[in-house]
Amino acid sequence: MKTILKTVITGLLLFLTVGILVSCSSSKEVYSKITKVEDEFKIEKSGAQLWGEACNRCHLAPSPADYNDTDWRTISLHMRVRANLTEKDITKIETFLKSAN
Ligand code: HEC
Repeated sequence: MKTILKTVITGLLLFLTVGILVSCSSSKEVYSKITKVEDEFKIEKSGAQLWGEACNRCHLAPSPADYNDTDWRTISLHMRVRANLTEKDITKIETFLKSAN
């Protein structure tokens, strides 16, 4: 009788442990962990890269040497709206353009 009880209890504990382990590593959770790690290691685009991509869409991207710093400020305000860029991205582009003229 005692051995039967022991076997049943051991069996139940095993069942619970496996159940907990399986629910902890459900695919959804694993997936969200992976995307978090991906976010952490995401490489941000540089101002030069963004300039090459965004400013070539409608016209040839103007060279940094084409305008002075004051002009780049105004152009950035203007083209941010045209290109629908985030504040962060246009700031990077503007910094790049000013640094290379
Ligand atoms: C959605 C299209 C579009 C994108 C993307 C775009 N431009 Fe323009 N750009 C224009 C148009 C259209 C003009 C002509 C002036 C006007 O009507 O706004 C122009 C004019 C300019 C001029 C001439 C001076 C001026 O302000 O009119 C410069 C310099 C310029 N763009 C730089 C850039 C830079 C730098 C980027 C990248 C951040 C960029 N553009 C992205 C459409 C665009």
